[in-house]
Amino acid sequence: MTSTIKIQRTEHPKQRPLDKDLGFGTVFTDHMFIANYDEGQGWHSPRVVPYGPLELDPATAVFHYAQGIFDGLKAFRGVDDKVRLFRPDRHVQRMNESAARLCIPPLDPELALDSIASLVATDRDWVPRTIGTSLYIRPTIIATEPFLGVRAAKSYIYFVIMSPVGAYYPKGMAPVDIRVEEQFVRAAIGGLGGVKTGANYAASLMASELAKHEGFTQVLWLDGVHRKYIDEVGTMNIMVKIGDEIVTPPLGGTILPGVTRDSALTLMRRWGLRASERQLSIDEVIDAHRAGELAEVWGTGTAAVISPVGELTYKGHRMPINGGGIGPVTQRLYDSIVAIQYGKAPGPDGWTLAV
Ligand code: COI
Repeated sequence: MTSTIKIQRTEHPKQRPLDKDLGFGTVFTDHMFIANYDEGQGWHSPRVVPYGPLELDPATAVFHYAQGIFDGLKAFRGVDDKVRLFRPDRHVQRMNESAARLCIPPLDPELALDSIASLVATDRDWVPRTIGTSLYIRPTIIATEPFLGVRAAKSYIYFVIMSPVGAYYPKGMAPVDIRVEEQFVRAAIGGLGGVKTGANYAASLMASELAKHEGFTQVLWLDGVHRKYIDEVGTMNIMVKIGDEIVTPPLGGTILPGVTRDSALTLMRRWGLRASERQLSIDEVIDAHRAGELAEVWGTGTAAVISPVGELTYKGHRMPINGGGIGPVTQRLYDSIVAIQYGKAPGPDGWTLAV
């Protein structure tokens, strides 16, 4: 993308929802960003336009073979009224890593950052004010070539849409009940688990629907080979505090390199806590629970930030954690990350970008 971003403002601004009515991902702002890629031309025509439907040929490659990727990041209105993006450079980097795995041509990182910053600046009034609310930003790239052969497409669009959001789970930052998944797997070694592509989420739906039907909020994924090592929880990375050690699975290709995961690890290490990236078997978790050492479990993700796990159920055996309440490290992480996001406390250098 070499040209500068053109901005076409809407003539029909929408009614903005009240902060108290915000859910997750149901309402979209007035504008969106779009750029095109064509073979021989590269990325071109970056523009901000009024939010609206895309017109696509039914043969469009992404509909058939899922060649598409996305990312998710947030903008926050700080206590000082400044609008800040949280670690946007990391998200742009991850987006390009996802693109590479799906044979999608990379974006110039600077222009990808510009696309997000100019869209947020255009719809700045849409960034909600209340702590716990934010503007969720969804950059996406899809293969648009109308072609039914199976190969990497020759044309793409990159678009960014935005949604003012409240809490991801309707109950907010409250402990959730999780069933350890025994039948289905989310990702296999060498597969797509380490990148953000719709196929991973499609593969997860049946397990989570069945778990919800049984009264659980989400599932805990085990590895696809041994069905033994902990992978992720729902759509989030997982952290488990056993005694004084906090364990999260290492990034080995099946685990998404979460930005909140990285932020939590960085903060905990700064606080002098023992945070390890190592394999953790479900048997070790069960043993820790029996020994009274399973202190806290939580998920990390952009959407929910930190999500405490109140109870794990494996093969029908229930393991309540921290009496079903929010543990101290879980709470401290949530409070600290939120304080940085809303400009109440300084974060490590470069974590926020004012727009
Ligand atoms: C996250 O941000 O935690 C997610 O991955 C959930 C998102 C796909 C809605």
